[in-house]
Amino acid sequence: MPRLLHIDSSAAAASSVSRGLTRLFADTWRSRGPEFTVTERDLHRDQVPHLLDAELHYAPRLRIRDVPGGATAQFAAAESLQGELIEEIAAADVVVIGAPMYNWSLPSALKAWIDHVHVLGTTVPFDTPDRPFAGKPVVVLSSRGNTYAPGTAGAGTDFATPALQQVLGVSMGMAVTVVPVELTLAPRIPALAAFVDQAEASRTAARAAVTDLARSLGS
Ligand SMILES: Cc1cc2nc3c(=O)[nH]c(=O)nc-3n(C[C@H](O)[C@H](O)[C@H](O)COP(=O)(O)O)c2cc1C
Repeated sequence: MPRLLHIDSSAAAASSVSRGLTRLFADTWRSRGPEFTVTERDLHRDQVPHLLDAELHYAPRLRIRDVPGGATAQFAAAESLQGELIEEIAAADVVVIGAPMYNWSLPSALKAWIDHVHVLGTTVPFDTPDRPFAGKPVVVLSSRGNTYAPGTAGAGTDFATPALQQVLGVSMGMAVTVVPVELTLAPRIPALAAFVDQAEASRTAARAAVTDLARSLGS
């Protein structure tokens, strides 16, 4: 049963561009047949807390001995949530992530998820070569109000997608595809009015890319 893990992190309830695209991805995925299932994880509506303790960044065998507070119910609950989040990736054939740009970076809700699933010795190699998620496709839908295309004033200041490529791709070995949607603020901000057509073209291209990926990945 091919399974999609559908992750959202936008704080916009109604107007979210990334939510529209992750939904399109999931709907296209489901349209391939009843065996194409979806697990949803909304990191804004059901927030993952900040990492309780730095020791959770390491596999149990790599933790300092007798973690202060390590025997508490609170630590056990945090460890259990971490296991659940990692298991969701393990169970998925494909992951799609709605990743809006917030202050040139990631929404803190998405960063908290990353801090839980990027674990030395568990999901990334450290003292062993294990890389459980190597090659697993992950599609990042990067919505941003401005443009960061080469030659523009914003070029080189996108600190959102490089972070995801580093963590999910370089470190965890996943097969990352980034689909950018630029200039989403053009219809809202008068100073960007000249870019409305460019914004529409970017959204159309993103929808086409999403449809293609949702039809072809996970076969
Ligand atoms: C807290 C916050 C910070 C933002 N920071 C940026 C930014 O640094 N650069 C940018 O181009 N757009 C920025 N935006 C605009 C969003 O990237 C844009 O609205 C995008 O479409 C959000 O994704 P969504 O539509 O899926 O919610 C910001 C929006 C919010 C709410």
